[in-house]
Amino acid sequence: MRLLPLLALLPATLWAAELADTSAQRAAAAQLLGKLSTELKQEIAKNGPVSAIAVCRDLAPKLAGDASRETGWKVSRVSLKPRNPLLGMADAWEQDALLQLEKRLAAGEKPELLDMSAIVQEPAGRYLRYAKAIPVQPVCLMCHGDSKAIPAEVRKQLETGYPHDRATGYSAGQLRGAVSIKVPLPE
Ligand code: HEC
Repeated sequence: MRLLPLLALLPATLWAAELADTSAQRAAAAQLLGKLSTELKQEIAKNGPVSAIAVCRDLAPKLAGDASRETGWKVSRVSLKPRNPLLGMADAWEQDALLQLEKRLAAGEKPELLDMSAIVQEPAGRYLRYAKAIPVQPVCLMCHGDSKAIPAEVRKQLETGYPHDRATGYSAGQLRGAVSIKVPLPE
């Protein structure tokens, strides 16, 4: 009889242990964000902002796709206000994660270190879900800031390419979205 309370604690302990190890996902997300930020700055400096659209539009999904194929995880960038609804729309877990990350940011946590994870049971199986905050940097504003901060040429391209664009009006330090990683777990 004495053992029963201990046994009841066991699943929670295992769960916590599984939750604790997201170091591989954290590293992959940080690598993706670091690479994009570097490429974006280089492309803007070399060829200007219109040309840099390709970094966020083409290189980002390509790197996320490469990472997904290498790891067997689903790696993506999602937002509560996506520019591209096909790739950027957050699912239910991601929306909730983004709201929680925004709260933690408002409570004073550093945006670069903000992340969270959970193990969830979905109809298709068990998954480790991981989300790393994507903070808005000053360099993002020329395409995600107020319309005044967006050069006319870029604005034209965005209007043509993204008729349902919700990804403007940000200021530096806010959350643009998250790198989301979904890892299938054994049943
Ligand atoms: C030169 C323009 C440009 C700059 C600068 C830029 N972006 Fe983007 N961003 C875009 C475009 C265009 C898309 C839509 C991509 C697509 O078609 O999937 C996008 C999409 C995104 C998305 C995917 C979610 C969504 O809204 O569709 C994230 C996240 C994102 N950008 C973050 C950033 C961050 C963070 C920065 C600064 C480090 C940044 N962007 C700078 C143009 C830009």
